[in-house]
Parts: sequence; C-alpha cells; structure tokens
Amino acid sequence: MLKVAVLVSGGGSNLQSIIDFEGSFEVSLVISNKKSAFGLIRAQNHNIPNYFVAKENRTNDILRLLNEYKIDLVVLAGYLSIIDAEIIEKHKIINIHPSLIPEFCGMGFYGERVHRAVFEAKATKTGATVHFVDAGVDTGEIILQESVDVEPCDTPDTIAKKVLEIEHRILPSVIEKISLKHLTGEKYESIN
Ligand code: GRF
Repeated sequence: MLKVAVLVSGGGSNLQSIIDFEGSFEVSLVISNKKSAFGLIRAQNHNIPNYFVAKENRTNDILRLLNEYKIDLVVLAGYLSIIDAEIIEKHKIINIHPSLIPEFCGMGFYGERVHRAVFEAKATKTGATVHFVDAGVDTGEIILQESVDVEPCDTPDTIAKKVLEIEHRILPSVIEKISLKHLTGEKYESIN
C-alpha cells in the first residue's frame, strides 16, 4: 500500500480531504513546520502520527521521519517552508498550488495572495494545479489542473472558495492515481 506523508503549515483542509478519501493509499505521517498548525490536530483526530519539526535541523528531522515511516510519496498541502534539495533528491514529492500554473505562481504567490493577484488582474479563469516538486518554486511537471470561471461579482474570498473546492477534489485523485500505479509496480515519474 502506498504510504503517504502530508506536510502542512496551516488549517489542513487539503489534508482532511486526503484523509477522507476512500482510496488505496495510507496517510502514514503528517509533518508541520508550525507547532500551531490545525493540520496536526486533524492528524491527531485520526490517530495519524504527526510531528512539528523546528527550524533547527528541520531537513534531517524530515528525512529521518520519512525513512522511519517508510514513506513512498510526500504531499505538500499548504506547506509554506522551503524543501531542501536533499529531500527532493531522495523522495517523490507533489504539491497543490491554487492557480493554473504557469499563471500566478512562483516566489511570493501563496494562499490568499494568489487569489488577490487573479482578482486584480481581472482574470476570467483560475483554478488549481497538482505538480511534481523539483528544485524550483512551482516549476515541476504538471500532473493535473482544473479550471473555474471568475465572474465579475467575484472577490478574492469567493475565488479562494471556488479554488479550494477544486483542490479538495484533484489532490486526493492524483494521489490515488499514483497509488494505483504503485500497486502495479509501474513507475509514476509521469502519470498523465
Ligand atoms: C491551499 O489553498 C493550497 O492551495 C495552498 O495553501 C492552502 C492550504 O490550505 N498551498 P489548507 O491548509 O489545506 O486548508
């Protein structure tokens, strides 16, 4: 069974959608760079091993935990800290970004800032993207995107709500696609 580690920094609604998904994978570990992240509480509520990793020694702590729990796939779900190159080299990592990459992504584009930029640009469409993580910021191979129209009456908040609903569907579905390939022993470098 594909063993998944989810890294969070905040509320963890994406983590919750992964936990709630009836799939062929297991959420084996939750890690946060924020002691107060509600995502850690969500993990506790489901008896999932969960750890806060302080800045000091963070990379080694994450590597040790990924090894200890025999993790096959790392999922960044609103994780707002740099992932060290050593982790990227050793593990398959995917990320959810709340825009249609390559639009509105890269340094400084995270959370609410993305939706404000979409609003201010008067974009007529936005959405969410699941992609593999490489050494860049939001530059890894795109796995799945889903778009939604931005209406004239939309605000950054209503845009955020529309996009989060997409995130909660496409992230678990990508993990399940990877899990099914894992079960058959297929490589999942590119799963399109
Ligand atoms: C989501 O909008 C995600 O796209 C972005 O950060 C937010 C995380 O939300 N990376 P949550 O913590 O999963 O509720």
